[in-house]
Amino acid sequence: MLIAQLTDTHIRRPGDLAYGVVDTAAYLEAAVAHILALDPAPDAVIVTGDLTDFDDPREYDRFHAITAPLGAALFPIPGNHDSSAGLLAAFPQIAARCAGARVNYVVEDFPLRLVMLDSTVLGRPHGQLGEDGLAFLDAALAAAPDRPALVAAHHPPFLTGIRHMDVQNLFDAAALEAVLRRHPQVVAFTCGHVHRAVTTSFAGIAATIGPAPAHSVSLALDPAAPPTFHMEPPSLSLHRFAEGRLVTHRSFIGSFSGPHPFFGPDGKAIGTPARTA
Ligand SMILES: [Fe+2]
Repeated sequence: MLIAQLTDTHIRRPGDLAYGVVDTAAYLEAAVAHILALDPAPDAVIVTGDLTDFDDPREYDRFHAITAPLGAALFPIPGNHDSSAGLLAAFPQIAARCAGARVNYVVEDFPLRLVMLDSTVLGRPHGQLGEDGLAFLDAALAAAPDRPALVAAHHPPFLTGIRHMDVQNLFDAAALEAVLRRHPQVVAFTCGHVHRAVTTSFAGIAATIGPAPAHSVSLALDPAAPPTFHMEPPSLSLHRFAEGRLVTHRSFIGSFSGPHPFFGPDGKAIGTPARTA
């Protein structure tokens, strides 16, 4: 099973640039083309929040128009730039999977269960799963203790060292850790929000932040550094689930020289120096 992870696409209304400079729609178009060119094709595409920049219906419409070629296996959760209600209104097929006003749902269609969590706090940049979200997660995992699961939310439950992002991460991380530790079938946790590829462990399992398909938050580990971004090479996470293990690759979006063969028709590595007497 292959899962592509888009995150923090920050789509604006037509004609608008994010922060006055980033044509996020063009970057999303490139990311969609990249996913469509993957061989084998991913079974599912998860979108870990901040689909839009301002939770505007026209931004969701534009997101839909750009991602339509990906088909139905698209599983979004909101970020702090979206809202639960805005996302549910824009994705009726996701609303049908959710029991209430929060975007908490489980995708049961694949060998790896996808437990998608709503970590948004309306009008605030930080995240919180809340009692309801934590109870949902606990019950969802308890319902299928023998089926491996990937848990996803927008906000990271750990510090990255990028201070201006760390102060707006998941505030109930300790409670999330307690739930995850009760369910050893969870193979990994993934999230977004930081616009960088980050890897650590959390609750004893692998934890990743999906990289940005557009602007990256600057890798600024000085606590006094101001909040800035760089236009680093766009990329996405490609998660491969096989033999009970989730392996996360970083797939760069763009055209690069290659593929170049390692070996020639004679079976020898190309460019092997001739043996001298
Ligand atoms: Fe965010």
